[in-house]
Amino acid sequence: EQLSVNEYLRQHIRTVADWPAPGVQFRDITPLLQDPKVFRVLVDAFVHRYMDKDLRPDVVAGLDARGFIIGAVIAYELNVGFVPIRKKGKLPFTTVEETYELEYGSATVELHSDAVKPGDRVLLIDDLIATGGTMMAGKKLLERLGATVTEGAVIVDLPELGGSQRLRDAGLKIFNLVDFD
Ligand code: PRP
Ligand code: ADE
Repeated sequence: EQLSVNEYLRQHIRTVADWPAPGVQFRDITPLLQDPKVFRVLVDAFVHRYMDKDLRPDVVAGLDARGFIIGAVIAYELNVGFVPIRKKGKLPFTTVEETYELEYGSATVELHSDAVKPGDRVLLIDDLIATGGTMMAGKKLLERLGATVTEGAVIVDLPELGGSQRLRDAGLKIFNLVDFD
């Protein structure tokens, strides 16, 4: 039987109950990275979409930390640069910063002030959207530097938490490969 790419990837995501806090169903993407064949299917799914003339970005931005793993590989394959959006206190040069709420806790992210130029078309990558706070913070940082975020792309969306809808309501196009309730 032939599985769709989406269903194939879905079957390689591990769910861990009550981690890192009671009531959280943690969607663990590490099995997708561990198997070289699955990793290739995953990366190619994004690369095939964004190599298209209309969707090809000038820059890929990745969100700390799991967004770095796929974001950097996608940028390399698209032959565009990669910029990291990091948790506060990790970037050495001048930064812009944004604080936001998580499904479990709060965080501040930073971006180097010369990471993107005004008018750059930026693809923003992470592994997962829960409440959408992380991706919203990334969008704000990039826009503060004058860039346009052409799309937010993730492996997993958790639509019941409302994050992807909030991001769409804020004018960001969202692309995801897998949904979990
Ligand atoms: C997770 C995940 C996303 C974010 C999604 O990262 O990798 O970045 O949460 O949640 P949100 O949509 O509610 O903002 P986490 O902050 O756990 O950090 P990590 O990648 O360093 O593990
Ligand atoms: N980040 C926020 N919520 C998450 C979840 N349920 N699984 C994996 N990463 C997450």
